[in-house]
Amino acid sequence: MDRFIVRGGQTLAGEVRVSGAKNAALPILAAALMVPGKIRFENLPHLNDVTTMLQLLGRMGVEVLLDDTGSVELDATHLASNVAPYDLVRTMRASIVVLGPLLARQHAAEVSLPGGCAIGARPVNLHIKALEKLGVEFEVTDGYIKGRAPGGLVGGKVLFEKITVTGTENVLMAAALARGETIIENAAREPEVSDLADCLVSLGAHIEGIGTDTLCIQGVPALHGGTHRIIPDRIEAGTFLVAAAATRGSCTLTDCIPAQLDATLMKLEEAGAEITRGEDFVSLDMHGQRPRAVNITTLEYPGFATDMQAQFVALNAVAEGTGIVTETIFENRMMHIPEMQRMGAQIDLNAATATVMGIERLRGAPVMSTDLRASASLVVAGLVADGETTVDRVYHIDRGYERIEEKLRRLGADIERVRV
Ligand code: UD1
Repeated sequence: MDRFIVRGGQTLAGEVRVSGAKNAALPILAAALMVPGKIRFENLPHLNDVTTMLQLLGRMGVEVLLDDTGSVELDATHLASNVAPYDLVRTMRASIVVLGPLLARQHAAEVSLPGGCAIGARPVNLHIKALEKLGVEFEVTDGYIKGRAPGGLVGGKVLFEKITVTGTENVLMAAALARGETIIENAAREPEVSDLADCLVSLGAHIEGIGTDTLCIQGVPALHGGTHRIIPDRIEAGTFLVAAAATRGSCTLTDCIPAQLDATLMKLEEAGAEITRGEDFVSLDMHGQRPRAVNITTLEYPGFATDMQAQFVALNAVAEGTGIVTETIFENRMMHIPEMQRMGAQIDLNAATATVMGIERLRGAPVMSTDLRASASLVVAGLVADGETTVDRVYHIDRGYERIEEKLRRLGADIERVRV
């Protein structure tokens, strides 16, 4: 098992290229299940979760050809299985996104109940309820969700009582091949949902309302092959910006879409950063100043992303003043806080609200990653701590960040990966 050793105190500066978005790549790869032909995806991030998804598709009979330019060619002409087994699904909750495509193409699917990040109960009831509106019958037995629609899927009206990203993606994919029209109301508007929708359209799907909370899909009998480039990862981008800001440094991110970072950039400006937005780059400069604490409330897109919450707790921990951070999307997504407290952070945690009283510097300590974004926040905390911080269970971070230590080193961080 790998761990990171971070020696804090460096001021980050330099340029980093943003990788393809994990949360766009996973549903887009799953969409290959719907296509009896060749598809090429570009800008695929090199991540453990992506490898898991490719393994899952491989088990179902999809031919996978990876090249060393970050592209993958998939061919799902001959599917061998409709089953997403426990041994793969347990490591990655997002495997649930194969449910919609399998039902669309095969009219039957068996998906193990998911595992993944331990951030609250994270049920899939809304996926099931919505797909039932498209004519799917479900039973949940032996730890598997088993869905069938013997006569094929039929379009329907879906109103999500709560916004769900992967739930919206599952219904979008199922509806693309259903008979007739589907309307999804209260759909997630995350850029990753729109990227999936754009990809499906390029493969022959009919979708209107992309980027809004109402998606209207006219089912088509079949999709065809094509090529799609995955959008950049706004959470990876935001994590590097916060790391630079916390160290009073500067950085330029290339290959990103600044408009998708609005909520994060707004908070960084509030924290005192000078931000320059370009077409496909963004720069941050703290001019050597300590950040000011900011208040954060997580919300669905275009609100402040829950996946950026932990990193901002780390920023606030060394900021001037007190910042109040409230998590509204997930229960139990504050597991980074006891770890940061071990590093001397002054934080009062009351249910889902953390009051963070900034101090000049944290103290290095051994800490443990509990989930993907929490581990990223501990690395940021390590960069602004005196002495050495050991971040254990780095496999969490490898699920969603492409060689984070190499990219941070390029910005001047003192971080190394050691095998224990
Ligand atoms: C996706 C992202 C994840 C991000 C999250 C919120 C992927 C692969 N993952 O996760 O990084 O943190 O969106 O932006 O894209 N819920 C239910 N029942 C359901 C489904 C969800 O109650 O059937 C609840 C969840 O417990 C949570 C909320 O709805 O409280 C939102 O979850 P959801 O948007 O579904 O998150 P994911 O799609 O799993």
